Amino acid sequence: MTHLANERFLSDSLAGLTQSPKQLPCKYFYDQRGSQLFDQICETEDYYLTRTETAIMQQYAGEMGECLGEGVMLVEFGSGSSIKTRYLLDHLIEPVAYVPLDISHEHLLASADQISHDYPNLEVLPLCADFTKPFSMPNPKRRPSHDAVYFPGSTIGNFRPSQAKQLLASIAHMCGEQGGLLIGVDLQKDRDVLERAYNDDQGVTAEFNLNLLHRMQKELGATVDVNSFEHHAFYNSDQGRIEIYLRSRIDQAIQLDGQIVQLEAGELIHTEYSHKYTIDGFAQMAKEAGWTIRRWWTDDKDYFAVIHLVVL
Ligand code: AVJ
Repeated sequence: MTHLANERFLSDSLAGLTQSPKQLPCKYFYDQRGSQLFDQICETEDYYLTRTETAIMQQYAGEMGECLGEGVMLVEFGSGSSIKTRYLLDHLIEPVAYVPLDISHEHLLASADQISHDYPNLEVLPLCADFTKPFSMPNPKRRPSHDAVYFPGSTIGNFRPSQAKQLLASIAHMCGEQGGLLIGVDLQKDRDVLERAYNDDQGVTAEFNLNLLHRMQKELGATVDVNSFEHHAFYNSDQGRIEIYLRSRIDQAIQLDGQIVQLEAGELIHTEYSHKYTIDGFAQMAKEAGWTIRRWWTDDKDYFAVIHLVVL
């Protein structure tokens, strides 16, 4: 990790831990170990999201390609090493360019190279950027008929609805008229199914959550007894979201950059929200951001949806 990135992790951590209630941003889950743990989460029986979305892509990528239309420049938000994208790329009609966008530089370039190799006729223009901040789009050699954003993984669920709406509005602005958005959204469902997905049997999600404290120890030199924290996740059905916390088992203190953060036994540090939508609820939010749903695809249990929207 670069010096600058480290500084930001430190200032965000300090700011979050000195707020009331305490919080830490979920984007810091994903160092190398965190990314590995997330991949492991995706393989658990309980975490249905990735498996379900991939199956939807596999089954309907042909229809999605037709919906996105000919000559598109496809920008993928948070591309990672995506398997799902390939189903889509296989079915795009004469795409002009593919722009994988990710915050992690190494990850981005490695997977962009792989895509270039496997799709020799596709112009691949990797872009290292944080999609929540303004960035400028690369210029492809050929002129696209329109731009479309692919935003898989239900990452949109990490944002509060007000922030999610802002992000959708900025995507609409970026794509302009005729712009498209293909987005993966986790749907509201039985509490049991949801809570199991965030409290897997093998404790991988717990490890993933606790990894934030390990990172603070390793990278920021924090003094923190990781073993005296535990994972806590539940479904808040009023807000339609999974809420994830680190809970202090005892009265204790974290030392970070010369500051002392006191925690009482049972006190929570908020680490993540994962919002679940209904199709109607998502449509309403998207509409306020300038988008209209054209079509959507789901699995046979209606657990997850891939939604195609357009700017009219
Ligand atoms: C990657 C944001 C979609 O919210 O389900 C998984 C992250 N957190 N288990 C999600 C996550 C805990 C995940 N997203």
